[in-house]
Amino acid sequence: MSRVISYAEFGPPSVLKLSDVDPAPPGAGQVLIAVRAIGVNPLDAKIRRGELARIFPVNFPVVPGLDVAGVIDAIGPDVTGLRVGDEVFGVASEGSYAQHVVADADAVQPRPPALPWELAAALPTVGEAAVRTLEQLEVKAGDVLLIHGAAGSVGAIATQLAVSRGATVIGAVSEADMDVVRGLGANPVLAGEELARRVRRISPDGVSAVLDTSGAGVLPESIDLAGGPERIVTIADMAAAGLGVRFSGAEPTDRAHNALPPLAHLAAGGQLQLPIWRPYPLADAAAAHADLEARRNRGKLVLLP
Ligand SMILES: NC(=O)c1ccc[n+]([C@@H]2O[C@H](COP(=O)([O-])OP(=O)(O)OC[C@H]3O[C@@H](n4cnc5c(N)ncnc54)[C@H](OP(=O)(O)O)[C@@H]3O)[C@@H](O)[C@H]2O)c1
Repeated sequence: MSRVISYAEFGPPSVLKLSDVDPAPPGAGQVLIAVRAIGVNPLDAKIRRGELARIFPVNFPVVPGLDVAGVIDAIGPDVTGLRVGDEVFGVASEGSYAQHVVADADAVQPRPPALPWELAAALPTVGEAAVRTLEQLEVKAGDVLLIHGAAGSVGAIATQLAVSRGATVIGAVSEADMDVVRGLGANPVLAGEELARRVRRISPDGVSAVLDTSGAGVLPESIDLAGGPERIVTIADMAAAGLGVRFSGAEPTDRAHNALPPLAHLAAGGQLQLPIWRPYPLADAAAAHADLEARRNRGKLVLLP
């Protein structure tokens, strides 16, 4: 038997229930993973609340979660290049909040031995989003990139990658995160009212590109700072289309392929920081979601099976 978290209706964190199931065998092209760590994403909570039912239709009961790291326990038909006992991380095919998880073989990567399990589970969704959005914005040396939510998980990775490319990053964050983004190589500015004035104090001509990870209604001000919507990408603001701004990631095809191996290499070598808030036991998934929704975490939430 294997422990799993699932919910049978949309609702608050308390709809998340622990149960025991027989793990399903992996299908063609799939592997079964004995889980060592699970990454929690804001998306897991949005789907649980029923906010995204139009984009991500679900069949109850739902096992939440995307990101996972663990050891391959069984291999389905037609899988090549992976073996039982391999240590991998990546994205589950149908829910990752479980002790055993099925994933498509091409959705997992070998775990570098120096990459801690918790970090391996934290990286896939946010790492891919950071790489994808910087590609879509074509960020390069000389750019002045404004990142809304630069201390968040996607924002922190995007900040470090953009700085390493030679861009100047202005990171809009709350007071508590000013030193964090300074440590990542960005110029911190306090998020909120009259942000544009504070940004222009650092960069009087505005910015050349904007990444919005906050979804906090910052797009109109961003268009003003960037001189138009062309080089603005949001991953969190559904008002994007109405403003002529690109919303990245709504389509499953909108993904950066091969983003993870280089990120895992950097993280394993200590050259990429992704702070972990704290691990929670799998059984406490509801507490993890409650902390996420109350914005108590400063860093990635991880579940341990
Ligand atoms: N479309 C996609 O492909 C895709 C992929 C991954 C994630 N996402 C979405 O992107 C968002 C970020 O994901 P994440 O994992 O990075 O979440 P996260 O780690 O919780 O980071 C979000 C950050 O935004 C900050 N924030 C909130 N309001 C802000 C404001 N007004 N100005 C500046 N920053 C603000 C938060 O700061 P405080 O903690 O101080 O509030 C936090 O640091 C989520 O909504 C997630 O669902 C989308």
